[in-house]
Amino acid sequence: MTSIPQDKIIDGKAFAAKVREGVAADVTKLKASHGLTPGLAVVIVGEDPASQVYVRNKVKQTAEVGMLSVHHELPADTTQEALVAKVRELNADPAIHGILVQLPLPKHIDEAAVIETIVPEKDVDGFHVVNSGLLATGGKGMVPCTPLGCLMMLKDRLGDLSGKKAIVVGRSNIVGKPMAQLLLDANCTVTIAHSRTANLADEVRAADIVVAAVGRPEMVKGDWIKEGATVIDVGINRIDAPELGEGKSRLVGDVEFAAAADRASAITPVPGGVGPMTIACLLKNTVTAACRQNGIDPESL
Ligand code: GUN
Repeated sequence: MTSIPQDKIIDGKAFAAKVREGVAADVTKLKASHGLTPGLAVVIVGEDPASQVYVRNKVKQTAEVGMLSVHHELPADTTQEALVAKVRELNADPAIHGILVQLPLPKHIDEAAVIETIVPEKDVDGFHVVNSGLLATGGKGMVPCTPLGCLMMLKDRLGDLSGKKAIVVGRSNIVGKPMAQLLLDANCTVTIAHSRTANLADEVRAADIVVAAVGRPEMVKGDWIKEGATVIDVGINRIDAPELGEGKSRLVGDVEFAAAADRASAITPVPGGVGPMTIACLLKNTVTAACRQNGIDPESL
């Protein structure tokens, strides 16, 4: 295996920084022209360490682009009724344009019921059934942040995606399904693969675009990648790395990175690929939500 040419690497960190600059400029314009400060409320229940890190980043980056950033930390034993009441309070707050309830929620809380309590206009995650329905039918809803970030990176690299064969490995409501929908809207021919797919290797070998979102370390093998394909790796998996020393671990994606990079024309690394784009798209969605709630066309900014 040779070393990987840098121009093959899709630098999600740098791209996300550019998106955030654009969002900050839009926020400045909205404040000046309409006296409007977009506001995002992030709600976390319990003390899951990974969720706490994600939420801290979201809250910090929201403030950094000049938006109102509100953070609600609720104890792990918060009742479903109390959480629903908090969401209703935020629904009614005119200073808040986006609401994000960090998942997963503690087991005693019905996640779907909480998500459906968020008014669709403020659902900046794009998880509400109204928003998934709008995405499926070509309407203007809120689009889930991770797939939106993946699509932006693909368009940035490839331009027009029309006619390309795309495979999405994984069928979650949060990534796989909306990703497939976005690729279909971009005129790709889309395959959705999952744990019961027969001949996954052959399905991947046929694809010009591979989006891996299964949450299984290095499950997509490098030699499955078609020569010249573009690979987007959504997975973030921590694995033991005794080669780095006793008790050490490292992050890997859902794709065997080095072997895939040998064959791909472009690939996202883990970390530093899709991850930073998710938060950048959350900020972008919050600006879009604030505009729509105030009768402003976000495209006009
Ligand atoms: N947990 C992990 N990723 C996400 C996300 O994008 N949104 C929410 N609400 N929770 C998550």
